[in-house]
Amino acid sequence: MERRNAAHQNDGMSATPLPLIAIDGPSGVGKSTTARRVAARLGWQYLDTGAMYRATALALQRAGLSLEDREGLERLLAGLDLTQEGTRIYLGGEDVSEAIRGQEVTRLVTPVSADARVREVLVDQQRRIGSSGRWVVDGRDIGTVVFTEACCKIFLTASPEARARRRFLELQAKGGSPVLEEVLADLQRRDQADSTRAVAPLRKAEDAVELDSSDLTLDQVVDWIVAKHLAHP
Ligand code: DC
Repeated sequence: MERRNAAHQNDGMSATPLPLIAIDGPSGVGKSTTARRVAARLGWQYLDTGAMYRATALALQRAGLSLEDREGLERLLAGLDLTQEGTRIYLGGEDVSEAIRGQEVTRLVTPVSADARVREVLVDQQRRIGSSGRWVVDGRDIGTVVFTEACCKIFLTASPEARARRRFLELQAKGGSPVLEEVLADLQRRDQADSTRAVAPLRKAEDAVELDSSDLTLDQVVDWIVAKHLAHP
């Protein structure tokens, strides 16, 4: 733990590299799909930390708890039973993979993921899961806080317009009737909240490589990350 704290202060530049690929970046940039595909190519496991924050927000919502109820929050966090199997996420044994993608959870997860106590508990779980290595982990603070000693850190970006367009098409493909301006405004709201919060704000680690995927296909992004990793394993 002390070593981690030391590493935390210098973005892991001097810690022993852990065979783990950290993929951070803003909402809607395609981190999860990219990370899952990179993991499959390398035969590694994939951890979706955003899903953990979402499942925690869902648990709070179901318990009718607000973040101001600190005792209730402590109790909930102490009993929080999150597991991930493949691409599915379970809360207390129940598959909540679809439930955590709803509008209400998407709204609630912003303040929940900005809560220092929530982050402390989830970061601890993430470290326990990934510390053996051979994981691809995506989130906002993986390279800067959770796995500062990761051997390979990617900061994946794309312009807000490119991200909004992709999300818009995704929602349309699912049968929805999204409005592009609303999708863009929602992404910008989440960008602003994630990068200005006091605890673990979204930012590029000093030793991360940035990839702007605005004009790249998913295959190109996956190939680029795998090549990068193989060049510097
Ligand atoms: O990647 P996503 O949209 O599923 O993430 C859900 C929320 O959780 C989003 O508001 C950002 C936050 N998050 C975070 O703060 N830290 C992480 N490591 C992953 C996600």
